[in-house]
Amino acid sequence: MTSYQSAKEEIKSTADIVELIGQYVQLRKAGRNHVGLCPFHAEKEPSFTVSPERHTFHCFGCKKGGDIFSFWMEYHGSTFPEALRDLAERYNVTISEGFSQAAEKEKAAKRQNLYKINEKAAAYFQEALKDPAKGQAARDYFKKRSIPGEIVSEFRLGYAPDEWEGLVKDLKDHNADLDGAVEAGVIIPGKKRGYYDRFRGRIIFPIFDLRRGERVVGFGGRVLDESLPKYLNTPETPIFHKGRSLYGLHSGHKAIREKGRAVVVEGYMDLLALRRHGLGEVVATLGTALTSDHIRKIKGIAREAVVVFDPDEAGVGAVLKSLPIFLNEGLRARAVELPGDHDPDSFVNAEGLDRFLELLDQAPPIFDYYLEKRLAQRDSDVEGKVHALKEILPVLSALRSSTQRSLYVRRLAEKTGVREEALLSELRTLDKNPSQRGVGRGLKERVLDPQTGKSYGDLQLLNLLVHHPDAVSRLMECGSTILISDPTVTQIVEALFQEYRKNVTVSPENLEDSLESEAACIKLREVLIGRSYYSEGEVEQAVREIERKAYQKRLSESLKMAKGDIEGLNKLLKLKAQGPLRS
Ligand code: GTP
Ligand code: MN
Repeated sequence: MTSYQSAKEEIKSTADIVELIGQYVQLRKAGRNHVGLCPFHAEKEPSFTVSPERHTFHCFGCKKGGDIFSFWMEYHGSTFPEALRDLAERYNVTISEGFSQAAEKEKAAKRQNLYKINEKAAAYFQEALKDPAKGQAARDYFKKRSIPGEIVSEFRLGYAPDEWEGLVKDLKDHNADLDGAVEAGVIIPGKKRGYYDRFRGRIIFPIFDLRRGERVVGFGGRVLDESLPKYLNTPETPIFHKGRSLYGLHSGHKAIREKGRAVVVEGYMDLLALRRHGLGEVVATLGTALTSDHIRKIKGIAREAVVVFDPDEAGVGAVLKSLPIFLNEGLRARAVELPGDHDPDSFVNAEGLDRFLELLDQAPPIFDYYLEKRLAQRDSDVEGKVHALKEILPVLSALRSSTQRSLYVRRLAEKTGVREEALLSELRTLDKNPSQRGVGRGLKERVLDPQTGKSYGDLQLLNLLVHHPDAVSRLMECGSTILISDPTVTQIVEALFQEYRKNVTVSPENLEDSLESEAACIKLREVLIGRSYYSEGEVEQAVREIERKAYQKRLSESLKMAKGDIEGLNKLLKLKAQGPLRS
């Protein structure tokens, strides 16, 4: 009997990924990889890439990818146990009989249990809000934020009293499964013994899932004052994924379908305020950037999204980042920038819904908004425009519809003053060479090194780690993570280092399981399938350069801290005495 992990490994090493996928997709050789027309989205030029070396496939257009199991599941719409069964049969690998059903059943039972616990917790928070004494401060807070009773009951808002064992005690009284409650994220095991409540002294927003509407998948909790953190969420659990949840979707669903549009805001409070004023078609992200999961959920029921994020730097940044995702997913989107310091909550409370609706109606397409912002950020000289184009063209190159593409190219030509033909020819170059797109995308991740003024890329580090695993230990020891500016890259690099610490080797193609976000998986695959930036002879120099930069950056950070601070000064002297790890 083979356990499922080793069956999986065995199948992977037996199967020829090019042969397998080749039975469903016409592939032709292109360098080390094979390419073909993606079976998962409509395209005219092949961006679907299979790498026999990495046992991986990846589509640079729709971003689907993974190993043979991912392909099988996606292509046949099957679950993992089904794919495992099918492929085991195909490659004559034995797996223990009935394993999959048992595993599936166990998983389902576990999820049911988490829903049950969340339901109990939600009821507890609702009761606490109604409690004459304990709930007073929270009721006052809702009043202050203009949240009426109808909204409180519709969204089942509640209150977690400022107690360490309020919920713990309630769960115990109901003979609930406390380990399950830990897994649901509502209570936390104490250091020495017992458990304590995760949410204390916070108003509570239960988050529901869409499928059945009434299932509570997680919670958000806000403090009543200015203390930090302002919001606290349920951590990732088997039933709660922050990057996939849209707050308010279960109840806004119908209105979104009817209106054909979804207004997307950042916060719980924004959503509730808009609902109170009568806007039905609204959902909120939970303070994360928009993901393709979010957009797919919207896409299924609406023709258009209108994004209304806060006018601060983070909000504007989030809108700009969402453009490629909207384009790739093919959902029309517009962007609203609110005047002054308003977020949707304060705006609608101050100016009313009609003014808000006017802004929605006037909102420019997100593509125009993006161009406007990007071109304004840089000098309008030639260099600045080239830079902006380098960022935008790969995004356009990944577009599915050629009509859409030519419309955007025309608009891009108008706004930048670069001839349409020149832009089209750039695009054709990108089309011929899909792996270049990954590189093109990488350009935006490059930042200027404050010390030398030279550009330095997160992707250089990632590329080195993935293609030259021998360099991992040195890059880990020199603290190279300090140089990374993109959190997605940090996630990958940290997972890599962790694996190295555990096993003293890394196989980057098996890293996907330890990555939390979809974005990180995609980025990793693109690096895996792409080329190494460095030849063997250049690796040593590249590693040294990173060692030197990491050292300099730590030095300059200590310098900043050391200003008028003895302890910092000592740290600095120590660091200086050490010198770069290798020079
Ligand atoms: P109010 O200040 O109550 O109006 O909240 P807001 O919704 O305007 O919050 P803000 O614009 O500061 O943040 C938007 C969203 O980001 C929130 O609704 C939360 O989902 C999330 N968020 C904000 N602060 C935190 C935090 O400290 N931790 C976490 N995990 N999420 C946060
Ligand atoms: Mn707010």
